[in-house]
Amino acid sequence: MGDHVVTAAVPAGLPAGADDLSVWPASTTRLPDGDLAVGGVSLSELADRFDTPAYVLDEAEVRGRCRTYRDAFPDTDVLYAAKAFLSRAMVRWVREEGLGLDVCSAGELELAVTSGFPAERVVLHGNAKSPRDLEAALRLGVGRIVIDGPSEIARIAAAVGPGGRQKVMVRVVPGISAGGHDKIRTGTDDQKFGLSLADGSAQHAIARILGQPRLELTGLHCHIGSQITEVKPYLVALRRMVGLMARVHDAHGVALPELDLGGGHGIAYRPGEPVLDLTALARRLRAGLIESCAAAGLPVPRLAVEPGRAVAGPAGVALYRVLAVKRTGEKVFVAVDGGMSDNPRPALYGVRYAPRLIGRRSTAEPRTATVVGRHCEAGDILAADAELPGDIRPGDLLAVPVAGAYQLSMASGYNLVGRPPVIAVHEGTATTLMRRETLDDFRSRDIGG
Ligand code: LLP
Repeated sequence: MGDHVVTAAVPAGLPAGADDLSVWPASTTRLPDGDLAVGGVSLSELADRFDTPAYVLDEAEVRGRCRTYRDAFPDTDVLYAAKAFLSRAMVRWVREEGLGLDVCSAGELELAVTSGFPAERVVLHGNAKSPRDLEAALRLGVGRIVIDGPSEIARIAAAVGPGGRQKVMVRVVPGISAGGHDKIRTGTDDQKFGLSLADGSAQHAIARILGQPRLELTGLHCHIGSQITEVKPYLVALRRMVGLMARVHDAHGVALPELDLGGGHGIAYRPGEPVLDLTALARRLRAGLIESCAAAGLPVPRLAVEPGRAVAGPAGVALYRVLAVKRTGEKVFVAVDGGMSDNPRPALYGVRYAPRLIGRRSTAEPRTATVVGRHCEAGDILAADAELPGDIRPGDLLAVPVAGAYQLSMASGYNLVGRPPVIAVHEGTATTLMRRETLDDFRSRDIGG
C-alpha cells in the first residue's frame, strides 16, 4: 500500500497535489484521457457498464490491509469490524486472510456464519442486544459476547440455560476522549456504551460475572472512539485496562487472559491528512503491555484489535455522474446522481472527501466547488471545498476515493433513490457483489396498499 504504479506523467497544467493518488487503492493507475484504473479495471468503463452511482471495491486492497494487520500484530487477534462494510465476499476475504470478526447484530452474525465464517472467531457487541441477537449468538455458537451493561449479566446467563457456559467479555469505559468527531467518541462516561471504570461499575459487573457459573469471563474490552490518528490514547487506555485487570486479580485471584482494545484506527480521506501508524501502534502496545503487566505482577494477556475503517475504507471508490452545475454568487454546486442516501458521513460528521474528475482530461483552471447530492435537503453535501476543474459539466464522471467504510453500511432508502451496486475489482476483472436496489425492491416490501 502507499506506493502507486505511475503509468503516465503528471498531466501538465494541474496544480501540485491535484493529481495525488496517495489515498487511492495501491492498484490505482493512470490511464490516458484522465481515466484511472483500480484493480486493473478502468473506472469510466465501470461507470458505463454498471451505471452510476456505483461503488467499486478493490479486493487486493482489502486483502493487503488484512495482511498489513497480521504482519504488524503477529501475536494479536485482529477482528474486522463488520459494521464498516459487510458482504459475503468481504466475509470470505477476511476469513481467508486469517482475521476474526466483530459484529453487533444478529443480521451481521447470521450473514457471516451462513457465508462460512467460523462462529467461534466472532465477537458480538451492542449496547442494546435484542432477544434475537442473543438467540442467534447462542444458537450459532459465537466466540465471545461483550457485556455492555449490568442488566445483560442475568439476561445472558438465563439465555445460556442450565449446564451451558458462554464466553463473555466486559466493555469498559476507560475515561479517555479520543476520535475524529463527537458522535464517534466512546471512551468517556457521557455516552451510552460500556461500564465505567471511574465509578466502579465495571469492577462491580466483573465481580457479578465471576460469580455466574454460566458465564466464563475471558477478558476486558474497550473501544475509545473512531478515526483516531495518534498512538497515545491507546497507550493510556491500555494502562488503565491493565490497572483494572490488576484490581480484579487482587480482589478475585483471577488473571483474565484477554484484552481487546477495539478499533478506531484513523485513515486519510484526503491527501496529506494524518493516518494512525499501525506499526508504531503495534510495537508500543506490545511494549506497554509487557511493562504494565510486569509492574502489576500479571501474566501478559492476549491482545485483540478491531479495525473496521482501516481495512475497508481505502479499498472503496464511489462513482457518480454529474447531473447539474450551478453557480450562485461565489459558490459552485456540482450536483451528482447519488448523495446522502449512499454516503451520510459528510452530513453526520462533517467529513471532507477529495472527488476527482475521471474519464476526460481537462486543462481548465481548478475551482473550489461543493459537490452535492440529489436529495431534497440542503445538508445533502458529498464534498465541501472540492478542487475540481473549472469546466466541470453535466455528464462528467466523479470518483471519490476512501469510500469503502461506513458509507454503504449506513446507506438509506431516502427519496427511493435506491442503494448503488457494489462491484469488486481484481486483476482486471469486475464482479458484482451487490446489485443496485430498484423500485421493485421497494415495492416488494411495501405490502400495505
Ligand atoms: N469495535 C467497536 C466496538 C466499535 O464500536 C467500532 C466502531 C469498531 C470496533 C471499529 O471502528 P473503526 O476501526 O472502524 O473506526 N459511522 C462512523 C463510525 C462509527 C464507528 C462505530 N464503531 C463513521 O462513519 O465515521
